[in-house]
Amino acid sequence: MPRTLVTRKLPSSVIAKLEAASDVDLYVGSKAISREELLQRVKGADAIVCLLTDTIDAAVLDAAGPQLKIVANVAVGYNNIDVPACRARGIAVTNTPDVLTNACADFTWGLILAITRRLGEGERVVRAGAWGGWALDYMLGMELRGKQLGMVGLGRIGRAVAEKAPAFGMTVAYTARKASDLPGAVQMPLDRLLSTSDIVSLHCPMTAETKHLIDKKALARMKRTAYLINTSRGPVVDEDALAWALKERLIAGAALDVYEREPEIHPGLMTVENVLLIPHLASATTETRTAMADLAVSNAIAVLNGHAPVTPVP
Ligand code: DGY
Repeated sequence: MPRTLVTRKLPSSVIAKLEAASDVDLYVGSKAISREELLQRVKGADAIVCLLTDTIDAAVLDAAGPQLKIVANVAVGYNNIDVPACRARGIAVTNTPDVLTNACADFTWGLILAITRRLGEGERVVRAGAWGGWALDYMLGMELRGKQLGMVGLGRIGRAVAEKAPAFGMTVAYTARKASDLPGAVQMPLDRLLSTSDIVSLHCPMTAETKHLIDKKALARMKRTAYLINTSRGPVVDEDALAWALKERLIAGAALDVYEREPEIHPGLMTVENVLLIPHLASATTETRTAMADLAVSNAIAVLNGHAPVTPVP
């Protein structure tokens, strides 16, 4: 039987499916497997089923050995994997597109509504026993109707987010490499999108080009009344710059699901009220996480059986 290293607990039905096709070495710790343990346990693996918290680089591939055939990420983003190093060794790399699109799109709207209507701030006030009662001008937020949603990236998740904009009376602008056929969506350069949008929502992959795409200059371009939403990857935003922009009220607020150094949060973000800080939950529904694990395992099984992977990374 081939051997598969699974770097974190997955639903038992999914593990059972994998066990029918390979010997499974399951890491059961509640936190990410340590680098040392990963390098140790990967030895002799034919497949790795890993999470976005695991760095799979050339050293891990070498530690595994030449029999390694696939790295199956349980995530749509795969910036934790050195794809060129895998390709150079003939190792397949797969991710989990589509199955999380709906959960992530719903969640993005949750962030948009929560930050523009100050739900985090409001809840903190209530829990602190500091609410003085209803007042006409108390904790006012921003209405969405008539505003522009600026989408940075219009892939599967971005598109699913944008498709819901008309329900809130919003128009859609987007920046992307390819033109989209999304009805009513207007393509524009990033600078213009930043300076004209009321909500800027990030949906681009994390690459060398998108690292710190949202820096001091980009934040300064945004309207002072605008909000930034990040459900993509933390390093797309320069957190030093964002903490500064929020403190100086250069933008109205931000809602973040991802961070530069997860699970660490930039201290400058912890102390400002106009930011909503969520612990990387965009795809976190039971249905979606099960589907993600199942797809990753299906990829591993396909490759172990000598077939093409179901969802290879592009
Ligand atoms: C992904 O799949 O890349 C998401 O960030 C998981 O929530």
